[in-house]
Amino acid sequence: MTAPLCGWMAPLCAMALALPGAATPAQELAQPLTAVPGDAARGRAILVDRRVGLCLLCHSGPFPEERAQGNLASDLSGTGSRWTAAQLRARLVDARRLNPDTIMPSYFSVDGLNQVAGRWRGKTLLEAQQIEDLLAFLLTLRAPPVS
Ligand code: HEC
Repeated sequence: MTAPLCGWMAPLCAMALALPGAATPAQELAQPLTAVPGDAARGRAILVDRRVGLCLLCHSGPFPEERAQGNLASDLSGTGSRWTAAQLRARLVDARRLNPDTIMPSYFSVDGLNQVAGRWRGKTLLEAQQIEDLLAFLLTLRAPPVS
């Protein structure tokens, strides 16, 4: 929240400022979506597959074999050092939980989406197991130690 917006919302602003980085429940999903733990190798395959995850349309990362990578969003290197599993799950399920204006697709949510073409209506972009696989892979992307 930026300062000029505070005005009449001062009490809310004060809360936001008093809790730097504190995650609200909506920003975390601690409960795995599946009983079967995610598989990092499958997650990597989903991430680089342009017909499935489409992640590299926007993101780049440590994927040397992928020549064309996106520049609309961050480099995914070090993701596992920046976020917890619960935070990453919340983002993959519905990135609007963290940023209502995000352009990142909601991969496992059908709530409040507009203009969804007929055959996709009511369907999630990815399956629960695919979300858990992606998550397992993202958690392996650790930032190099600072020397
Ligand atoms: C249409 C563009 C787009 C696509 C496709 C997309 N993202 Fe994102 N992603 C973003 C943007 C923009 C952000 C920056 C934060 C925001 O807007 O919420 C982001 C943020 C993230 C972050 C947090 C990055 C950080 O700062 O550490 C992760 C992790 C992530 N995305 C993973 C994925 C994965 C995995 C996929 C594919 C399943 C994906 N994204 C697909 C646009 C996209």
